[in-house]
Amino acid sequence: MHIVNIVGARPNFVKMAPLIHAMLRRPGLTPTLVHTGQHYDQAMSEQFFQDLEIRPPDFNLGVGSGTHALQTGQVMQRLDPILESLKPDMVLVVGDVNSTLAAAITAVKRGILVAHVEAGLRSFDRSMPEEINRILTDAVSDFLFVTEDSGRVNLLKEGVDPAKIHFVGNVMIDALQNSRRRWERSPIFDTLGLGPSSSYAVLTLHRPSNVDDTGRLASFVDALETLARHIPIVFPVHPRVKQQLTRRGHLGVAQADSYGRCHEKGITYIDPLGYLDFVALVSRARLVLTDSGGIQEEATILGIPCLTLRDTTERPVTVTHGTNRIIGSDPNRILDESLKTLGQPLGPNTAPPLWDGRAAERIVDILDEDRRQSQGMTPA
Ligand code: UD1
Repeated sequence: MHIVNIVGARPNFVKMAPLIHAMLRRPGLTPTLVHTGQHYDQAMSEQFFQDLEIRPPDFNLGVGSGTHALQTGQVMQRLDPILESLKPDMVLVVGDVNSTLAAAITAVKRGILVAHVEAGLRSFDRSMPEEINRILTDAVSDFLFVTEDSGRVNLLKEGVDPAKIHFVGNVMIDALQNSRRRWERSPIFDTLGLGPSSSYAVLTLHRPSNVDDTGRLASFVDALETLARHIPIVFPVHPRVKQQLTRRGHLGVAQADSYGRCHEKGITYIDPLGYLDFVALVSRARLVLTDSGGIQEEATILGIPCLTLRDTTERPVTVTHGTNRIIGSDPNRILDESLKTLGQPLGPNTAPPLWDGRAAERIVDILDEDRRQSQGMTPA
C-alpha cells in the first residue's frame, strides 16, 4: 500500500514523525513524504526534521507564504501532477493547516483515498481559518482518526458514517514520548540562563486574530509586561508576530544577540525554537500562555498549567482532563488568571484516554488491516 503523506507547517512535522516511523516498520506499507513548503525557514521547518529524526521529504512543493487562496491553490496545482505520476493508494494528511485541506481536495478529486489524522476537532468558530480547513478536510476523508471523544461526537453530528471514524489517541503525544530522552538533554536552559529552580512562564502567540491587529497585540504586550514583574516570561516569537512587533519598535535588530534574544521589561523574546528545545522549555515552566492548539495538549501531558488566550478550544479534553483553561484575550483577565494560577499548587497530572504514545501504531494497524482485507488476505 503506497501512502503519500503531506506536511506543510510546523505542527504537521511533529504529528507526521511518529506516523512515518511506524509506516517504515511495516513491510506492507510504502510511505512517500511530500512537504508543501508552507513553512520554509530553517527554524520553522528543517530544524523540526532534524529534531524529530524525519528523513528528508521526497518532494518539496516550495509553496511558501501568501494569501490562503494562493497557498491552497499552489499546493493543489503542484501536488496534482505528483499524485498523477505516483498513483498512490492513499493520501494521508494531518492537522488543520492550509496544506492539509489543499492536499485532501487534490487527492479526493483524483479518486484517491484520504486519511485525516486529528479529525473531528471543532472550535465552532468559523472565523478561524483552521476551522474551515477541519470541516472541509473531514468532509472528503475516508479514514477519520480522532484524538479525543469530542472528535467522534462532532463527526457523528455532521452525519459521518461511523465506520469511517477511529478513536486512536494523539500522535502529537507519541512524538513527545518518543523523543523524551532527547528533549530532557536540551541545552536551552543554559542558553537562556535558567537554573534548575528558575521559575518562568512560556508564552506563544501566532493566531491572526490575536496578532494581526497592532492595537490588540500592543494591549497583550502591556498586560504581559505587567505579568513579567511577577514572573519572567520567555517568548519564542513566530515570524508573523516578529513582523508586527518590529513595526511597533520592539525587537530592534541592534538589541538582539546572536541567539536572536532580546530582553525587554521582564520578557525574553527569542527566535522560534526547535521541537526539542521548546518541549524542554515547557516541561519545566511554571505556566504556559498560548493561543496554539498543540501546546494545550503538550502542556496537559507535561502537567504544566496552561492558559489559552482564545475564546474557544477545539480540544476540550485538555480542559476536562488536562491543565488547560480558556481565558480569552482580555488583557486584564490574562493578568488576573495568571496571578491566580501562580498562587495555586500544581495539580495531579492525568492523561486523556489513549494519549499513551501508541496512536501512530494504532493508525498503522488500521491501515494495514484495510490493505489486507482489500487484497483478500486473512486478518493479521
Ligand atoms: C500556520 C497555520 C496554523 C498553524 C501555524 C503554526 C494555516 C491557515 N495556518 O499559520 O494553523 O497553527 O502555521 O505555526 O495554515 N513565515 C516565515 N517563515 C516561515 C513560515 C512563515 O517567515 O517559515 C511568515 C510569513 O511572513 C507568513 C507568516 O509567517 O506570511 C504566516 O505564515 P503562514 O504559513 O501563512 O501561517 P502561520 O501563521 O504560520
